[in-house]
Amino acid sequence: MLVVLLVVWMAYSVMSSLWTSANGAPWVPTKLRTVRRLLEMVQVRAGETVYDLGSGDGRVLIVAARGFGARGVGIELDPVRVLWTRLFVLLLGLRKKVEVRQGNFFTQDFRDADVVVCYLLTSTNRRLGDKLIEDLRPGTRVISNAFPFPDWELVEEDLEHRIYLYRIP
Ligand SMILES: C[S@@+](CC[C@H](N)C(=O)[O-])C[C@H]1O[C@@H](n2cnc3c(N)ncnc32)[C@H](O)[C@@H]1O
Repeated sequence: MLVVLLVVWMAYSVMSSLWTSANGAPWVPTKLRTVRRLLEMVQVRAGETVYDLGSGDGRVLIVAARGFGARGVGIELDPVRVLWTRLFVLLLGLRKKVEVRQGNFFTQDFRDADVVVCYLLTSTNRRLGDKLIEDLRPGTRVISNAFPFPDWELVEEDLEHRIYLYRIP
């Protein structure tokens, strides 16, 4: 039984990784220390709406809600990770503050964002850049973990944590 579960889990992991990589990025969770640094750097304020594009297990949303008083909205392709995030959110009593939508961020609406967090790939950022500029309000902060938006003007960078901050013109 254990072997069957292990095989199912491994098959799911490989398929999920191939699928999400082809659509934007594989799942690699941000270290919690970096999540905090990232949210501090982008100066999240209580009541603001923070989107995490490709929200993984929901850690960015949870820290944004618990530590900064923000509303967190995640968009995540992988339905298993969406369920997993919903379970964490339920257990932590954050249902009013954190929401996760299953879907592809290239086709979703996130115009109401005050802050957008990305941990994707440079090639995905390049593809996503035009949608962000078209959809987001001027002044919206976009913060990217590990991979810059190559064509955008940088507002601030943290070289130690490899975090890049931008503002929609
Ligand atoms: C590098 S992980 C980052 C996870 C999380 N944001 C964090 O910082 O811990 C990228 C996530 O994006 C998701 N993803 C990739 N392409 C996507 C797409 N087109 N739409 C929605 N989610 C996507 C992956 O499934 C994965 O969970």
